Amino acid sequence: MAGSVRTRRSASVLVIDDEEIMREILEALLSREGYQVRLVSSGEEGLELARSMPFDAAIVDVMMPGLDGIATLQELRKLDDDLPVLMITAFASVETAITAMKLGAFDYITKPFKNDEVLIVVHNAVERRQLVAENTALKQTLQAQYRRFSGIIGGSARMKQVFDLIIQAAPSRSTILVTGESGTGKELVARAIHSNSPRAERAFVTVNSGNLPSDLLESTLFGHVKGAFTGAINPKKGLCDLADKGSIFFDEIGNIPPETQAKLLRVMQEREFMRLGGMETIKVDARIVAATNFDLRRMTEEGRFREDLYYRLNVISIELPSLRERKSDIPILAQHFLHKYGEENAKPDLELAPEALDLMMEYDWPGNVRELENVIERAVVLTTGPRIGTDLVPDHVRKTPQFQIPEVIVPPEGISFKEVITDFEKRLIESTLEAAGGVQKRAAELLHIKPTTLNEMIKRYDIRPRRRRAPADAEPGGTESDNNNGHGAQPAAPPPAGARRLSAGFGEE
Ligand SMILES: Nc1ncnc2c1ncn2[C@@H]1O[C@H](COP(=O)(O)OP(=O)(O)OP(=O)(O)O)[C@@H](O)[C@H]1O
Ligand SMILES: [Mg+2]
Repeated sequence: MAGSVRTRRSASVLVIDDEEIMREILEALLSREGYQVRLVSSGEEGLELARSMPFDAAIVDVMMPGLDGIATLQELRKLDDDLPVLMITAFASVETAITAMKLGAFDYITKPFKNDEVLIVVHNAVERRQLVAENTALKQTLQAQYRRFSGIIGGSARMKQVFDLIIQAAPSRSTILVTGESGTGKELVARAIHSNSPRAERAFVTVNSGNLPSDLLESTLFGHVKGAFTGAINPKKGLCDLADKGSIFFDEIGNIPPETQAKLLRVMQEREFMRLGGMETIKVDARIVAATNFDLRRMTEEGRFREDLYYRLNVISIELPSLRERKSDIPILAQHFLHKYGEENAKPDLELAPEALDLMMEYDWPGNVRELENVIERAVVLTTGPRIGTDLVPDHVRKTPQFQIPEVIVPPEGISFKEVITDFEKRLIESTLEAAGGVQKRAAELLHIKPTTLNEMIKRYDIRPRRRRAPADAEPGGTESDNNNGHGAQPAAPPPAGARRLSAGFGEE
């Protein structure tokens, strides 16, 4: 990750410690890693400096004369509540460290510390800082986008293209064809086009072309004159009248019967229509937006859709990606629906467990955003606690690994039954753990066994976590070989907190 390496290099760290030797050790250690380090010897000085310039992290000694570490922490957080503050404490005062954590410290380091340990927590702190900043920026853009685009959520490159197209196309009068699978948000896009157009103050009229026979559809669209058909006692206006100076949205245009297609073409070409049973032509100025999840071109080839109408419609087309083509949007969409249905069901502050989100990221969503919305709504309604776990993800969304019994060839000299079974058990557990992202509880669910049974087998067979993806900068401890400040041999550095899922250590949940 070049971005985070760059940030780490230029990140600034404020060190507040009354002991000169500690300041020197920390300065040497951190500046060697490329951090910009500023040293001060008291809480008061630290605050003064923090008021005058921004920092990415602060390291504060708990025991200091004057303003002590805890008070300094509290003041620092008043200045900037996102600033990660790391506390240094003597081993004896872990209690104080815990108090500090409760007051919002990011982490604590006990003295004597190992260099690696310091580097890891500082790295995590800076990374967290960066993530918070990125999230805030992303949230702001998304909120602005959300207001502007009638509730369409999306941060992926594909959706950005869609937003750009909406903005470019909206001001004109040109007809727009919105295509995409069912549930991808075609109707939302049609509304966004209207609300970003100069017609926004006028009507947005939807025509559900789907299930009406042509005469009924036509009378709905164009109205009718008195006596146009049995029962037409009074003349009636149609949706085209309503949409004048506004926009008219033909939902599922592929369903429009051929007779009506011809009349629609006339509306588009001549900007006029006739009422059912009428002789008079009526002018209409409506912006046409049409949506379909059919392949209209193919329908023209098969003679089921008028070619001239197709070309008229397809002046500007906006193609919506399926959800599986923009999986990076799943977390923000899930969050959005969690919030939406949380409010509706008086369950605020709901949280989606990372494991549940993992399952959602794996799934292909044939019903697209609509299906995701339904899954979240169901989970929100059914949940009894604040956290939505994997148990609330419907079965069909859970992807179980493709399973095949390997073909067994028994050699002429025979084979040890016990060894074969053991080997098979071991491999089955390894693969399941991998499929479960290293989470034992989930793997146990997949294998329909108790987590304790699985845990026993893992121990018995000495199964070790398989590394999945290990990002280069996830292990800051691994970059230096002699970064021990004289406290004896040290064990391998633990992975930074954020790397837990990537390094696939076996989590219990
Ligand atoms: N990008 C999105 N952000 C937020 N909600 C979305 C998004 N896309 C779709 N939805 C929601 O999903 C549901 C389906 O969207 P919409 O009706 O616009 O889909 P559609 O493409 O018209 O589907 P169909 O072809 O089945 O009519 C709606 O509840 C909509 O609010
Ligand atoms: Mg629709």
